[in-house]
Amino acid sequence: MKKILITGGAGFIGSALIRHVIGNTSDSVVNVDKLTYAGNLQSLASVADNPRYRFEHVDICDAAEVARVFEQHQPDAVMHLAAESHVDRSITGPAEFIQTNIVGTYTLLEAARTHWNKLEGDKKANFRFHHISTDEVYGSLGAEGFFTEDMPYEPNSPYSASKASSDHLVRAWHHTYGMPVVTTNCSNNYGPYHFPEKLIPLVILNAVSGKPLPIYGKGDNIRDWLYVDDHARALHLVMNKGRLGETYNIGGWNEKTNLEVVHGICTILDEMRPQGAPHANLITYVKDRPGHDQRYAIDASKLEREFGWKPQETFETGLRKTVEWYLSNDAWIKGVTSGAYREWMQKQYAA
Ligand code: DAU
Repeated sequence: MKKILITGGAGFIGSALIRHVIGNTSDSVVNVDKLTYAGNLQSLASVADNPRYRFEHVDICDAAEVARVFEQHQPDAVMHLAAESHVDRSITGPAEFIQTNIVGTYTLLEAARTHWNKLEGDKKANFRFHHISTDEVYGSLGAEGFFTEDMPYEPNSPYSASKASSDHLVRAWHHTYGMPVVTTNCSNNYGPYHFPEKLIPLVILNAVSGKPLPIYGKGDNIRDWLYVDDHARALHLVMNKGRLGETYNIGGWNEKTNLEVVHGICTILDEMRPQGAPHANLITYVKDRPGHDQRYAIDASKLEREFGWKPQETFETGLRKTVEWYLSNDAWIKGVTSGAYREWMQKQYAA
């Protein structure tokens, strides 16, 4: 039974991880989150009252507060997910990406190192710093091949460059200070509780309200889709079993063009909401993203070989579940789209 300090636990992947850890393991969680626009404690309503769950409203760039959290909670492991994650936002405003993703990771690493240095015996030997990163650090693929763990880094956007920097910091803290680290790089996640700036939730919500479905460029860019709960299971496995200093790629073997994804959503909606059919009529081609990476595809065989992990969802089953979730969770959607969740959180955590 471990106490895991999870950063970014109010985000999309972080909240799925916390629901998994609290719901399916005996570990406890300290959720450290700054609650930016994409952080939403309503995604954690199902675990909020669990005695194995604690929330700390802390920015990972605040060294004094991060040190206080380590001192107070004495975690056995860190799983670091806090990050600015949206590529388009990094293009129009890179500063926050540099701050949170690079400076924040540095600040967290230093606090974790101070904590780890004070540990003794098994506590010290078993401590883990698990850094959660992205396949975008590898750059863009041509028509053939997959991202493997030994590929050179070629990040192309301010977002991916900031994540690549954080991966290098984690690597250096292992190499230089002997910190017990492990890193994972994942493909595009999708599923419930996803902030509706990303392609899949944006398209679902626009389609149900009859708004245009924006496709960047020709819609032939390829992403490799991973259901978020499959990712959460993989993360917990790697935190427990990952070999120190290693990296593991996590992907769902689900390559799709953006147009295929959008048509897939429209087909499901035509069946579930026939009054809006055909939803594909809403598809609208818009200006391409600057520097848009053409293709991502993960080779997840190292993870599968070492831990026997396999994704449980196919893209078809996962997408159906996701659409169903968005159609039946109006309160969550209204909360994130109206900003009301921010007021709710301020009331919850008012000093
Ligand atoms: O590969 C992992 C990465 O996946 C994560 O590291 C990032 O944090 C996450 O945001 C995601 O990055 P993408 O840029 O691939 O995701 P996004 O949902 O923004 O876009 C998916 C694809 O759809 C991409 O080719 C751009 C395109 N797109 C996106 C939006 C929002 C559109 O065509 N129209 C849109 O409106």
